[in-house]
Amino acid sequence: AQEFLIAPSILSANFARLGEEVDNVLAAGADVVHFDVMDNHYVPNLTIGPMVCKALRDHGVTAPIDVHLMVKPVDRMISDFIEAGASYITFHPEASEHIDRSLQLIRDGGCKAGLVFNPATPLSYLDYVMDKVDMVLLMSVNPGFGGQSFIPGTLDKLREARARIDAADLPIRLEIDGGVKVDNIADIAAAGADTFVAGSAIFNAHQASDPHGYDSVIQQMRTQLAK
Ligand code: DX5
Ligand code: ZN
Repeated sequence: AQEFLIAPSILSANFARLGEEVDNVLAAGADVVHFDVMDNHYVPNLTIGPMVCKALRDHGVTAPIDVHLMVKPVDRMISDFIEAGASYITFHPEASEHIDRSLQLIRDGGCKAGLVFNPATPLSYLDYVMDKVDMVLLMSVNPGFGGQSFIPGTLDKLREARARIDAADLPIRLEIDGGVKVDNIADIAAAGADTFVAGSAIFNAHQASDPHGYDSVIQQMRTQLAK
């Protein structure tokens, strides 16, 4: 397996102080910034778009930005996020009319491409495009909101995804998103994930009285992953 990456979801950050929150969480040891894009159409919530991604780059963020598109249609947003400085761009196959083309658009733009699987979306969407993905992202909640509980059946699906990636023998990351906490991250890693999105677990640890509350959560996650 590849090295473990921790990807805080800024969905749970304080948007009024976003640059500072991202700086702090990276200083605390996070590897990747997970950037949730919701359009009030594909999912029932509305968040942030390419201008905010660009603003983080202009602010000086050099860490990989992992753009999770929960939008329909996807291709226009792919182009805009390539321009805005995204590193990874992942989308839900149900939201694209032409999955192969959307994946190719992402790679042609110099970004890493990924497919996202909702809890009930079959992994068979990978069958003919395995060589065109750099990331497989399994949702362990239904997309749209932070702070939901991890759906236990996702562990079996992770094992299946891990087997597919190992069989393909390609450097594909296996990311998990939704309800990841200090107390379940070891089991999630054991099932095959190597990239861990965590929103509420990390950002809710931050208190005004303890501006570096997320240091300890990220450290505890690393300790669990080292087991
Ligand atoms: C949900 C988003 C997640 C979310 C995770 O649709 O894709 O990235 O922020 O939040 P937690 O870690 O709180 O479940
Ligand atoms: Zn996400």
